[in-house]
Amino acid sequence: MKKFTHELIEKNPWLLIGLVLLVISVGGLVEIVPLFFQKSTTEPVAGLQPYSALRLTGRDIYIREGCYNCHSQMIRPFRAETERYGHYSVAAEYVYDRPFQWGSKRTGPDLARVGGRYSDDWHRTHLDNPRNVVPESNMPSYPWLATTKLDPQSAAPKMIALRKLGHPYSDQDIADAPKQLEGKTEQDALVAYLQGLGILIKAKR
Ligand code: HEC
Repeated sequence: MKKFTHELIEKNPWLLIGLVLLVISVGGLVEIVPLFFQKSTTEPVAGLQPYSALRLTGRDIYIREGCYNCHSQMIRPFRAETERYGHYSVAAEYVYDRPFQWGSKRTGPDLARVGGRYSDDWHRTHLDNPRNVVPESNMPSYPWLATTKLDPQSAAPKMIALRKLGHPYSDQDIADAPKQLEGKTEQDALVAYLQGLGILIKAKR
């Protein structure tokens, strides 16, 4: 019988592929599986609530408009980042983000803790035309958000779907959803979404 040598593995591509897959799977399992059982990655940060109907709708507008193409939502644990944006992001803040909006490009600043940094009016003026408040800005204008009304019925089905995935919405939350969206514009929803970002972990800035 041939000895199980390095040469044998190298000369037999199928054996090589099999062993590579085995090594990667074991390595992957060892790294990933413990995360499912670690409290710091599975339990929401204190006070974290699933998105309200209005903020959930705003989040979908954020995704629809592609804001993530220029904005990350992930503050890394480096001095340069925490000095500018505040406390670094932790896994427990994203428990109700499906999918998360970490992003990978920063044409504009990180938004993970933009909540409360500006007034609602600032955001409205900025979204209508960023040049109104930041003359050198190259962010696009989103004037239609202020004039497009929300469909009050649009949020409840999403909440029902998210509840199936474990987001703790009560029947009352879902029943109240249309009331929350009634008469509101897309801009209202997006501003509500932005104003709640990252406010649970406060850092001295
Ligand atoms: C083409 C890239 C680009 C896109 C797309 C974009 N932005 Fe921006 N954004 C920027 C830049 C650059 C700045 C910095 C200048 C300014 O404040 O306008 C900025 C700034 C901001 C700020 C202020 C952040 C701070 O800390 O000062 C907010 C809030 C913001 N953007 C929200 C949004 C939202 C919401 C969307 C989607 C509707 C969006 N942006 C889409 C480039 C972009």
